[in-house]
Amino acid sequence: MTFNPADRIKKVQKSATRRLYDAAPQGSINLGLGEPDFLTPTVIRNEATRVIREERLGYTPNAGLLALREKIADYTSVGLKQATGADFVCVTNGAEEALFAVMMAILNPGDEAVLPNPGFSAYATIAEIAGAKVVPFAMPAANGFQFDRDNFAKAITDKTKLALIVSPSNPTSRVMARDDLQFIADCLHGSKVYVIADEIYRDLYFTEERPASLAEFYDQTIVVSGMSKMMSMTGWRLGWAVAAPEVIQSVTVMHQYISACASSVSQKAALAAFTDAGREATRRMREILRERRDVMTQAIERELGLPYVSGEGGFYIMLDVSRYGESEEVAMRLLEERVITVPGDAFGAQGRGYLRLSFCIEAALIEAGIRRIAKGL
Ligand SMILES: Cc1ncc(COP(=O)(O)O)c(C=O)c1O
Repeated sequence: MTFNPADRIKKVQKSATRRLYDAAPQGSINLGLGEPDFLTPTVIRNEATRVIREERLGYTPNAGLLALREKIADYTSVGLKQATGADFVCVTNGAEEALFAVMMAILNPGDEAVLPNPGFSAYATIAEIAGAKVVPFAMPAANGFQFDRDNFAKAITDKTKLALIVSPSNPTSRVMARDDLQFIADCLHGSKVYVIADEIYRDLYFTEERPASLAEFYDQTIVVSGMSKMMSMTGWRLGWAVAAPEVIQSVTVMHQYISACASSVSQKAALAAFTDAGREATRRMREILRERRDVMTQAIERELGLPYVSGEGGFYIMLDVSRYGESEEVAMRLLEERVITVPGDAFGAQGRGYLRLSFCIEAALIEAGIRRIAKGL
């Protein structure tokens, strides 16, 4: 008998990233990664081993340990006019589960979800699984993938239930300006639209000031974030959603039936991220990433001489390879030189003609990877 999956899953294609990874030869340099190569900071690992040795590790409350929710609420409240508390927080298995739980809790079939193009590919897939209609708003490549007010405003209709922004962005690393966030708040003022602000890269920034949050400007913001990038904890699966308690109650019901609770080891260890030692570890990673970004931009200018967009945070650069063909075709060709990249159009049509390169690996590997791209183009 042939297996007949549910319609909601039939539509989900194997991602371009997956196709490339599957085709990559041994010894490839991976400039396609979506995670830092750093060991998780010692302060977290020590705490994790201690709790494994000494403490009972049962289920936690669905929304997460109270002590952790309090820390996350305090962390999210910085810069907000009104502080949040533990009842504003649901701890999830990574930000990805938070995105899933939030979208499933908010979107009805037929509702419109306004999503950035280009943007992290899970957004559209999850919205479609929820039965929503995806309405992309272009962050135009021609304008360095910056937020475009007109495009955003035009995408909002009376069917819009949810919008989403990501700053710093995956795949462009662009940070949204404060006045653009204010624009979104003004544009949606008095509406019923909720906005997910994906802030998973917020603590990885190269500007003087930490990127602003939409939550400073708009009450119906749902902040999604987590430990994966800022603490190099991708495998620990620890993320969260922060929003008004009535929203979080529904998100927590959804989360309860997805996974009951996030891993109690990860939750207890994550408490250490909010100590001075934890914050210092993030600051150090930020510094190293800034150095690696400079290594990558210099190597691109020296070896390739191609246009590129380098943002103000995160760990990605968008390289314009349009003169060599379609993104996926070029990325496939580069595999012959054993270098993995991600086709820009995997993130939406605006990424067409670009490759997303990550600078979250060692400087020597970044340089070798760019040399391989130069050979393969
Ligand atoms: C923009 C963005 N949001 C969310 C996630 C999910 O992160 P995690 O589930 O590891 O917390 C990622 C991972 O790459 C991402 O790039």
